[in-house]
Amino acid sequence: MKSRTTSSLTIDAFDARAVDIDTVELDQLYTLSIGVGWPHRPEDWQFLRDTGHGIVVHDEIGRVLGSAMWFPHGADFATVGMVITSPRLQALGTAQWLMKRVLSAARGRNLRLNATHAARKLYLSLGFRRERTVFQRQAEVQRFGEMPRLPEGVELRELDRKDLPAIAELDAQAFGASRLDLLAALLEQSTGFGLSRHGRLEAFALCRPFGRGHVVGPVVASNDEDAIVVAAPHVEAHEGRFLRVDTHLADGEFCAFLARSGLAFFDTVTTMSLGGEFRDPNECSGKQPVTYALASQALG
Ligand SMILES: CC(C)(COP(=O)(O)OP(=O)(O)OC[C@H]1O[C@@H](n2cnc3c(N)ncnc32)[C@H](O)[C@@H]1OP(=O)(O)O)[C@@H](O)C(=O)NCCC(=O)NCCS
Repeated sequence: MKSRTTSSLTIDAFDARAVDIDTVELDQLYTLSIGVGWPHRPEDWQFLRDTGHGIVVHDEIGRVLGSAMWFPHGADFATVGMVITSPRLQALGTAQWLMKRVLSAARGRNLRLNATHAARKLYLSLGFRRERTVFQRQAEVQRFGEMPRLPEGVELRELDRKDLPAIAELDAQAFGASRLDLLAALLEQSTGFGLSRHGRLEAFALCRPFGRGHVVGPVVASNDEDAIVVAAPHVEAHEGRFLRVDTHLADGEFCAFLARSGLAFFDTVTTMSLGGEFRDPNECSGKQPVTYALASQALG
């Protein structure tokens, strides 16, 4: 018994090294996120590695003990995500160590992230400020009744690569930074619907495989009615299947639509910023496009 305790203490007195996230096996990242109950598949990690940068901490024998990533958009903005410390090594300063390296690598950029309850104190201590709650809604979709009627003068159609410039422009107005490269990558994996008036894209919703099923996001629109029109075909297509939506919307018609579809509250995280402007969709004027659903918690 005594020698067991001694050997486990020796293992935990690790000498951590930070390496680029691209240098470790995908399975090691998958094991790390499964260990904290996150749903990411190896494919989801690969997508994140393809679109962002990251570091991992490993010990002398190559076990991955922690991770942190950042996703640059344009020259002066990035989101931060996938901050994980292996459960048996938590509360020893690993995440703070990783975050300081991320802050250094992303110096000069305004940053945004979505903090779990466990991580909020860490980010506050690094200067991030609280913006708004994100509601993670997910479930097997229930029959939600009639498809919404199209408003007068509106065209709804499936999107393709040619729509990328219009999608990126609308998304940038809502998100506050241009995410052209990310949206191009998301479009490759997603089905998308767009709503146009007089030939101009005014709302869109993408949907792709993620985690336990599919995720709808990003969704950008200027009002609840348009957001429902573009999200509804995705919800209908996944009836009886697992679907997830991460939204800042706390109430209103869009939330009521998600609730009718059976997408119950599962968890919340808190959007936090270090510099830059956050556009709260709850304060939507009905004229300005806002983000109704996130691409993901890591990507914003
Ligand atoms: C959140 C998480 C990354 C923190 O990692 P960690 O290596 O334990 O963090 P650190 O040891 O660097 O601690 C940083 C600060 O957070 C505090 N903290 C750590 N775990 C905490 C918890 N569960 N609840 C509240 N505070 C916590 C520490 O006390 C420390 O505060 P201090 O600097 O005032 O002492 C880790 O708990 C984790 O991986 N959780 C599951 C995944 C997750 O939620 N990731 C965050 C995504 S935004």
